[in-house]
Order: sequence, then C-alpha cells, then structure tokens
Amino acid sequence: MQEGIMQPHRAQWKTRMGFLLAALGSAVGLGNIWRFSYLCYKNGGGAFLIPYFIALLIAGIPLMILELGIGHKMRGSAPMSLAKINPHWEWVGWWAVIFVMFGIVLYYSVIISWCFNYLLYSINLAWGDDPNDFFFKKFLGLTSGPQKIGNIRSSILFSLALVWFLNWFIVFRGIEKGIERANKIFMPLLFFLTAILVFWSLRLPGALEGIKIYLKPDFSALARPGVWVDAFSQIFFTLSLGFGIMIAYASYLPRKSDIVHNAYTISFLNCFYSFFAGFAVFSTIGYMAHHTGAKFQEVIRESIGLAFVAYPKSISLLPFLPQLFGILFFTTLFVAGLSSSISIIEAFTSAVMDKFNWKRKNVVTVLSILGFSGSIIFVTGGGLYWIDIVDHFLSHYGLVMVGILEAVAVAWIYKAHRVRDYINHISVLHIGRWWDISVRYVVPGVLLLLLVNGIVHEVSHPYGGYSWITIILVGRDWLIYTLFAAFIVAMRPWKKTLHIE
Ligand code: ALA
Repeated sequence: MQEGIMQPHRAQWKTRMGFLLAALGSAVGLGNIWRFSYLCYKNGGGAFLIPYFIALLIAGIPLMILELGIGHKMRGSAPMSLAKINPHWEWVGWWAVIFVMFGIVLYYSVIISWCFNYLLYSINLAWGDDPNDFFFKKFLGLTSGPQKIGNIRSSILFSLALVWFLNWFIVFRGIEKGIERANKIFMPLLFFLTAILVFWSLRLPGALEGIKIYLKPDFSALARPGVWVDAFSQIFFTLSLGFGIMIAYASYLPRKSDIVHNAYTISFLNCFYSFFAGFAVFSTIGYMAHHTGAKFQEVIRESIGLAFVAYPKSISLLPFLPQLFGILFFTTLFVAGLSSSISIIEAFTSAVMDKFNWKRKNVVTVLSILGFSGSIIFVTGGGLYWIDIVDHFLSHYGLVMVGILEAVAVAWIYKAHRVRDYINHISVLHIGRWWDISVRYVVPGVLLLLLVNGIVHEVSHPYGGYSWITIILVGRDWLIYTLFAAFIVAMRPWKKTLHIE
C-alpha cells in the first residue's frame, strides 16, 4: 500500500438490478436507434452486422470487462482508477471524462432536445408535407456552413433548458436516489415503447422490403476499411466505452459483484437492443418506400435525416394514429438519450468529487450550468455542422484513443493477469487467459490500426467535404484543448490520500 489518495465512504447501488439498469441506460442511447440503423444501411446492410459483432467480441467485451474490473478494483472514477494504476496515467482518465463532458454531452443533449421538440410536433404532425424543408430550414434554420453561426433557435433552446434541468435533477440526487431510481423507470419504459414500435411497424405494408434491405448482406462492403472503422467506433459509442462511465458505475458496486456476468449482460443486451430497434426503423422506412414508390436510397440519405426527416415522413403516411406513433418514437429517443446523458455527467461528477473532495450537489449544479451554456453553440443555425464535425472527431478518434491507452495502462503497466485474477476472484463466471491476450495485443493492435487508417484517410479526404481550417479548428482542436485541460487537472494535487492497491 502506498500513500496517495484516500477515499471516505463511497455511494453504492442499492441492487444489482439497479446497477444493470443504469449501465444499460447509459449504453442504450440515441446511438442505438438512429446511428446504428443508419450505419447498417450505409455499410452494406446486414453485412455491417459482421464487423459490428466482430468489434463487439474483440474490443467491446474485453474492454467492458476491463472498465468494470478496474472501476471496481480501484473503487474510483476513471481518473482515480488510472491514477491508482500509475499516477503518470491519471491524465488519460481526465481526458476521457473531459472531452465527453465538454464535447459529446454538449451536442448529445441538443439532439435529445430535438427529440423533445419533435415529440410535441407529433401532436399535430407539424412537419407537414415536406419534413426535409421543415427540419433543415424551419426548425434548425441551417446556415450555409459551419463558419456562419446564425441565430440561436429559441424553440430548441427551451427544450435544451428542460434537458439540462432533468440532467441536473437526476444526478444531483445521487447514485441510489437519482440515477438508479430514474433508470428503474426509464429502462422498462424504453423496452416497452420499443417493443410496441417494432411490432406496430412490422405490420405495415412494405415492412418486409425494408427488413430485406436491413438484413440482406452486401459482402463487398467488408472490403472497405471505413466500414470497419465505423463498426469499432460504433461499438465504443454504443457501449459507452472510453467515456469513463463504466469505470465510475462499477466503482459503486458492492465488493462481491460478478463483473464478468455484468459485462456480458450489458454488452449483449445493448447490441440486441440496437438490432431489435433496427426492425422498427427499417420496416417504417420500407413502408414509406412502398407507399411513395421512392427508392430506398432516396429515403435514407444521412444519419440525422433518418430520425428527423425520413421517420417523420413515414409517420405522416401512417393510416392509423400517426400522432401516437410519433409520440411513441420520439419519447423512446428522448428516454434513451436522457439515461445516457446523465451517465456522462455522473462520470465527470464522480471524477471531480474523487479528486477535489467537492460536494456532489455543488459539482452537478456548476456542471449543468456550464453544460447548458456550452451546448448553445449547437443550437445555432450552424449547429448541425458543428455536431457533425465534433461527433466525428470525438467518437472516431477520442474514444478509440482512450480505449488504446486504457488497454496499455491496464495490460502493460498494471499487468493484465492481476486484473484478471481480481475479477475471477469475485466473479462466478471466470475469464481465461484469452482476456490477457486480448487486452495486451488484440485490442490495442486493432484499434491502433484503425486509428492510423482513419488518420491517413482523413488527410486525403477532409471529413464531410468541410474546409481544412474548419476541421482543424472545430474537430482536431477540440481534442487537443481537452487534452491540455486533462494534463492540467491531472497535475493538481489530490485532496485526499490515495490508497494504491
Ligand atoms: N451509449 C450511448 C449511445 O449509444 C452514448 O447513445
């Protein structure tokens, strides 16, 4: 035992089910619905499921076990857990929670706000005959490019305030009374709503055509490296890996907890949810293609367009209670999003509480005000461009880099077998030596390969056709500034003594 950072009493989940629901709440989010379905479509339909499940098996599950394992063993947030592994690696934990809190959740809460607006618009199908024009022009007031910020959209700002209020309210109340309780309501509601949507949409004429597109594999897509990059970054995003969330959530588990079983349950249920929700998305889009005679390619053009243009269009065409269908769909997205955004705020909150010993209520209040203010840039007329660029850089590069660094810190610095012994000691289900090999070689190797490939591609094809200056200032610099911030915070002294285990 070494002197350093000591912890007083740590909050705990009341039940294992409470923890599982909260971790699933974090994993199942906006990414499972619009992002997954769109990626499937873009990357060869059913063939995308192959790299997706390979990514789940070779990177997702081993890293989920790793994050839950170290969070539980070190009983700390991401920075604290990494600091206990080696004080020189603390910055990795900070980087994760900083770019997620001051990056991902800022635009993520704006998309949740759109869902709330669209939930209200569903009441009278306010998007009318031209949901495309409605979404981009009337609702977003989209400008001609990211440099033209435009005006703040007041209707979105209003729902954004509501989203941040809910974020604040839930995380403010703490682990058991806030996050656990909220997820005990959110998760059953989410599964129930999704099941209604799936069974409803499967009965629509043309649904089968949509499902065929969803599941029919185009194996030639697998030869494109971009498909693999998308699959791995989607696995990170969807399982909330590299966010520092699973580490913090595991730190609130009781001493005797089956880490391996929990990791499998969260990972498989989350991916099953995406797959299941895909049936609702594709059958509804199939219905629209059938109804209008449009080609599928014309129906799904871009990721955001899928949820906010194609889906509303399909809803308007429904013969029976379209308003109810719209309300169900956008409530599903709203609930899925909120249960993920609170987990991001918790990951940062727990990090600050660990390091500076500040009170939860103060941390959450300040964070929510900062978060709301920081989100405003994404509520402007140019906001969609900003979301597109920041999301691309943070999820394709940030999360993947954190994944590599975590694997190196745990498997090479701390030694994989020590974590494995610990996990096997407390878990009923055991992991074998395959896990050591995976986190030592496979995970960092594959991720590094994808990262380098992504960067090479980036240099030859500037993302999304944006100008270099925009990509550098908005995308790359977001990562660099948060990295600087991480180093600065990591250099501050711990307010408590840290027991290094
Ligand atoms: N895991 C969350 C999602 O998929 C962030 O949306």
